Amino acid sequence: MALEKLIVRDSGPLNGSVSISGSKNASLPILAATLLTEGECVINRVPDLSDTNYMFQILGMLGAEVERSSGRMVIEAKNLTPTAPYELVRKMRASVCVLGPLLSRLHEAKVALPGGCIIGDRPIDLHLRGFEALGAEVEFDGGNILLSAPKGLTGARLNLSGKFGSTVLGTDNVMMAAVLADGTTVIEGAAVEPEVVDLADFLNGMGAKVSGAGTTTITIEGVDSLKGREHTVIPDRIEAGTFLVAGAIGGGEVTIKNADASHLISLIEKLRETGYDLTTQGKNITIRPNGEPKGCNISTEPYPGFPTDMQAQMCALFATTPGTSVVTENIFPQRFMHVAELTRMGADVHLEGATAIIKGVDHLSGAPVMASDLRASAALVLAGLKAKGETEVNRLYHIDRGYEHIDRKLRKLGADVVRAPM
Ligand code: EPU
Repeated sequence: MALEKLIVRDSGPLNGSVSISGSKNASLPILAATLLTEGECVINRVPDLSDTNYMFQILGMLGAEVERSSGRMVIEAKNLTPTAPYELVRKMRASVCVLGPLLSRLHEAKVALPGGCIIGDRPIDLHLRGFEALGAEVEFDGGNILLSAPKGLTGARLNLSGKFGSTVLGTDNVMMAAVLADGTTVIEGAAVEPEVVDLADFLNGMGAKVSGAGTTTITIEGVDSLKGREHTVIPDRIEAGTFLVAGAIGGGEVTIKNADASHLISLIEKLRETGYDLTTQGKNITIRPNGEPKGCNISTEPYPGFPTDMQAQMCALFATTPGTSVVTENIFPQRFMHVAELTRMGADVHLEGATAIIKGVDHLSGAPVMASDLRASAALVLAGLKAKGETEVNRLYHIDRGYEHIDRKLRKLGADVVRAPM
């Protein structure tokens, strides 16, 4: 992979419209769920990202026949092996979501244990608690997780709440394990994110009996088999949010198209509180200035609260918003890699535990920066849009994990952004 960087210059107000891609975090578990059937599945609006490419390769290595053309993936998983290759799995933490489908369909799975990552420890104890409740045995061997249920899985009542709330991929995983189990499973303390609902919709389209997705109690009546299905992934609410913040930072009028405003309520509220006018028309959301912006407070929470995946981008906005803003991270308390880099660009940020106190400065100044986390890197690009001089965001591959053509889309709004070799 050629190493690339993004060169961002102070761009003035952005204007125009940009179309939102399909959701990364909905696509990944939905692609994994295609392993639950021998039938052909067609998944539309899969964003072209390195993470979806890794999942595509993992499905292929597990034995599925896979085909990809632009946003459409066709998967037919007739013959499967239960072992996911370490070389691929280690590149993406979300690979753990093949555990549930493999266990469900083959009654066994062997997948490399994901390590911690830059945003925190990221354990999977809750996923494993769920699998055990359904009757699976869990072992660890040579860096792998081995799951087995020789007699199949049996429905059970279980709870997935942890210290930091529920778990999105854990809920997905247990839901996928339970769809072919014998009897009824009730997941309490389930994650309620829209991506969980999209997965449940896909599973139900395949013939599963899942109810309550989108609430904290999900009930799954096991069925004998599932069939292939065509599905279109929901819009990416975090990409949408990132472009709304890009519009806010520039102070122009930006419309995001093909989005779902109902998934963005807490963000829209906070952007209004900061001093922007946001209007929704069908699938379009427009942001424009509304008087003098002023800092505000955000505190990340599970959905429908303020999303952790938008925290870094808001820090970038607050860095040049008059007044003091207080940003508290409750989901991943260590997720503040952007702070040191924003400080290097001249931001006035003080970190106290999992809270960042940001005093808005008049302007930032461009600098070479990098962050080893997708959303932190996106925040640095946003900051560069309002920094004097040139900001070089290195290690662009972190952004390419989660944003489809971010440079092209920003240029469409008039931003001065170019991709260059490192
Ligand atoms: N947690 C546990 N035990 C577990 C699982 C999670 O303690 O077994 C903790 C985590 O450490 C964290 C909290 O529970 O403190 C929530 O983590 P969750 O499991 O919900 O995160 P995830 O499912 O692994 C997804 C997204 C993340 C997003 C989080 C929170 C995908 C592929 N990833 O991760 O997205 O931040 O939910 O909303 O869906 C991103 O897109 O940049 C990204 C990191």
